[in-house]
Amino acid sequence: MNEQEKINAALKAVSFVKPGQVVGLGTGSTAYFAIQEIGKMVREGLEIRAIPTSEATRQLAEKWNIPLTDINDISTIDVTIDGADEFNSRLQLIKGGGGALLREKIVASITGTQVIIADASKQVEKLGAFRVPIEVIPFAANVVTRKLSALNGEASLRAKNDSTYITDQGNNILDVDFGLIDDPAALAKALDHITGIVEHGLFIDLADYVIVGKGDQVEIIAA
Ligand code: A5P
Repeated sequence: MNEQEKINAALKAVSFVKPGQVVGLGTGSTAYFAIQEIGKMVREGLEIRAIPTSEATRQLAEKWNIPLTDINDISTIDVTIDGADEFNSRLQLIKGGGGALLREKIVASITGTQVIIADASKQVEKLGAFRVPIEVIPFAANVVTRKLSALNGEASLRAKNDSTYITDQGNNILDVDFGLIDDPAALAKALDHITGIVEHGLFIDLADYVIVGKGDQVEIIAA
């Protein structure tokens, strides 16, 4: 991972944000730089309303005095800037390393232009070296784990500081090793049908652009 590549991608991505827009704010160490930059733009007079994808991002946005709005009060988000754990040439993503995949996917689902920012280490030929995060209701954690093994997925319940990790919605995360994934769209559909899964970290047909920092260059890949 390369911090300067993340910064370069974030600085490029904020040019997608225009006055008057509703803006989705992603979660994670790459989105952090975009939020910081948007905060500076707001300080200089940019008028936007933003939707944070996690409580951590809400706190960061509040620190920068970025005006927030309630997702239930709007029907569409103009542009969202978010990170990813992996992306491939079809702009399919694995997300959720930071545990925010549920709100991230809800926000992405009503976003007009979804801009993903990443350093070069996130670009892969095949998704799956990074385990797929899956949000489950705690009641169903073992039920889902067994169903995932039928799909050749080896699930580990995520922990933090020696305790089970709890998401912003009070759920758990299973980090699931499927090996390298030949058909992410087919796997996503199979996961969509497992009762007890709230949402999974395969983002298919949701990214419009990936902006990737490569050394001191930035590459923009369009869907
Ligand atoms: C948060 O749940 C994730 O989806 C992040 O967007 C993703 O993990 C990328 O995070 P970094 O930018 O910190 O690598």
